[in-house]
Amino acid sequence: RYDAVIFDLDGVICHTDAYHYEAWKALADRLGVPFDQQINNLLRGVSREESLEIILRHGGLTTLTEEEKRRACAEKNEIYKGLLDEMSPADLSAEVKDTLDGLRAMGIKLAIGSSSKNAKKILERIGLGGYFDAVSDGTNITRSKPDPEVFLLAAQYAAADPEHCLVVEDARAGIEAACRAGMDSAGIGDAASCGEACYGMETFSQLLIICGKP
Ligand code: BG6
Ligand code: MG
Repeated sequence: RYDAVIFDLDGVICHTDAYHYEAWKALADRLGVPFDQQINNLLRGVSREESLEIILRHGGLTTLTEEEKRRACAEKNEIYKGLLDEMSPADLSAEVKDTLDGLRAMGIKLAIGSSSKNAKKILERIGLGGYFDAVSDGTNITRSKPDPEVFLLAAQYAAADPEHCLVVEDARAGIEAACRAGMDSAGIGDAASCGEACYGMETFSQLLIICGKP
């Protein structure tokens, strides 16, 4: 009953949270602002630039110029990309890969809808470069989640009708974006228990049931 399933990447297909944490922590230490796991959790699904704003706001640092902010984001990304280089196909779980293959065998199109500008690099690292029918990511959007743009473009790239798309997300901002795109949503991790998701999943493979595997 779904023509396409659109997956968030970070926290859904693979787990980059610890890398984001390490990179933001290094930057925050240099800037002399506090940063902990609780603040890191607020950055899920949020763009790099907005993430920096959240960190600065929490640390009460209001004096950075636009140029300094741009450099801070670049600095964080360099550290982050260095950590991503350590990822390999071993970072893709058998459960995720088998579920993706199972959905594809059911004739469902598979797409990525991620806020990250590193999405294609991550997909390559974990052995999924070229696997998805469509990739919509931080490089083709002007507004990040909870705006629906990234998912609407994913549907368009996959030639699927938004009404017949299911979004899989671990972030509240992503569930909201799916709702605003007129798409159903399945929450996993933190988003599993958020009231707005159509389905709450304990395991990734539950997608096969949600998508109607006989
Ligand atoms: C999202 C992550 O997928 O991508 C966010 O959940 C991250 O934490 C965002 O800030 C942007 O990522 P990048 O790789 O473009 O800095
Ligand atoms: Mg996510």
